[in-house]
Amino acid sequence: MRITPQHEEHYREHGYAIVERFCTPEELTGALADFDQVVPGWVDFVKDPDGPKPHYLDRPYPGQRGIPHFPYKGDALNDLSFHPELRRFATQNCGGAPVFCEQSHLSYKVQGQRGDQEQAMHLDYSNHTIAYPPNLPRYWQTAFLYYFTDVTEELAPTAVCSWKHYPEPILWPSAYKREDRPELYEHEVKTVVPAGSLLIYSMRTFHRGTAFTGKGGRLGMFVTYAPAGCPWMGIVGWSQEGPRPEFRHWMERASVEERTTLGFPEPGNAYWTTETLAGVAARYPGMDMTPYQQ
Ligand SMILES: [Fe+2]
Repeated sequence: MRITPQHEEHYREHGYAIVERFCTPEELTGALADFDQVVPGWVDFVKDPDGPKPHYLDRPYPGQRGIPHFPYKGDALNDLSFHPELRRFATQNCGGAPVFCEQSHLSYKVQGQRGDQEQAMHLDYSNHTIAYPPNLPRYWQTAFLYYFTDVTEELAPTAVCSWKHYPEPILWPSAYKREDRPELYEHEVKTVVPAGSLLIYSMRTFHRGTAFTGKGGRLGMFVTYAPAGCPWMGIVGWSQEGPRPEFRHWMERASVEERTTLGFPEPGNAYWTTETLAGVAARYPGMDMTPYQQ
């Protein structure tokens, strides 16, 4: 097992795990070869940002959300998206329930270009679900971030904060600026790892992308699994629209039937608990919660 019991233990305690050199050398070589087919020039460009400019440096990728999504050219990235270890770990996380892959897309960035940003500490759930991620394994989504190039301190390492540092029962808001909650930043751990490594985290785990402080770039891939039968989850779909003010407006005025048609959990669904009623109410303050309380 590449995700060892020690990784699992760390994940339970902190809400994330870093698996160094998850990929075999063959998998890594294959991933980079496929990457170069999907976005030509990027593999060389992150090594030498003074070299020829790659495709899609200054413009979005022609596809949903402006980024390349699964399936990709070649087999290596596709195989890594559905790696048995990822599925095993995600399935175990949600208590053995079947899982579905709700996200797989590439990430490529270099100093000084779009993507080179000092992000705020956040939870990913605002665009991975239209409801709320309760502290119940049955509803746990598991996110994986592959790094296909070395991530040094200078090359925009992902920062992650153990969930020991935010024990509040309802995780809302889902993002904090440094000045609003400095302790999340003070306790962050930077994912400085060799190429082929994997970061695993949950929708209840604060993390952020950091800016480049040195010349270079990095290549990666996001993959997320959710328990099956939960259409309110998934970044490819309605949750993609979740953070927009228009979405909240629609949610607060829609009928129960309209929300259910969008994939939102219907009244009487086992999803509704004291926690989720409070979580959804916190997220959508103008929403009439009465139909869901019965
Ligand atoms: Fe994120």
